[in-house]
Amino acid sequence: MAEKVTVPEIVKMKQAGRKIAVLTAYDYCFARILDDAGIDILLVGDSVGSVIQGRDSTLPVTLEEMIYHTRAAARGRKRALLVGDMPFLSYQVSVEEAKRNAGRFLSEGGAEAVKIEGGEPMLKTIEAIVEMGVPVMGHVGLTPQSIHRFGGYKVQGKNKEARERIVRDALAVEEGGAFSIVLEGIPLDLAEEITKRLSIPTIGIGAGMHCDGQVLVVHDMLGLFDMYTPKFVKRYVDLKGIMGDAVKRFIAEVREGSFPDDEHSFH
Ligand code: KIV
Repeated sequence: MAEKVTVPEIVKMKQAGRKIAVLTAYDYCFARILDDAGIDILLVGDSVGSVIQGRDSTLPVTLEEMIYHTRAAARGRKRALLVGDMPFLSYQVSVEEAKRNAGRFLSEGGAEAVKIEGGEPMLKTIEAIVEMGVPVMGHVGLTPQSIHRFGGYKVQGKNKEARERIVRDALAVEEGGAFSIVLEGIPLDLAEEITKRLSIPTIGIGAGMHCDGQVLVVHDMLGLFDMYTPKFVKRYVDLKGIMGDAVKRFIAEVREGSFPDDEHSFH
């Protein structure tokens, strides 16, 4: 097994020009598969709300649910860095609440870092969490917990003023002491500018090829979730089709009486 991925190692990867591969995981089985395959970071994302719970936004996902999924993923992880995504209302109300809730991801969930959406307005919160010893991954651009402010899942940073705000947000995340930052749903040249200006690694999703790393929702890239497919998602396999075919074969064999056969029976 290659060496355990740590927070300092992720920061060094940018300095060494090594790209960082990140995928989401919400349970033991998936975490094990991705970890064995050599993923650098496993993100227990609040996208669990969409791909596991079937909700139409991440807003209803609770802290207890996130800690439950983080704990499950932690059991399947050996090498990757495990990051828990702080859900809506778990860090915005007060810095004190944010500190306690961030700490729970480590003490109860087995995470090694937390992710927080938002830039400048989150500076003090990021600082406070980092000060208590919890590494923070930032997240700016199209931040899904602010979906109602944006009026939908729309690419952000399309005009000068919006671009400048996102740059300020990214700089604030770095100033707060975050070890990395997700750039979501922004034009690739803006992501390139931010990646050049920051010393911490940028992890892109719908932010082009110039970021220091890339993240995708695992159910999207494996072709398990097909309710909607954003332009930035690349499907590496059609697991929904493969699973559907296997289930159809099982149904047919049960119905015709060919399963279980002698090989799958006890004597
Ligand atoms: O919730 C999530 O999965 C995320 C990533 C896609 C960045 O925030």
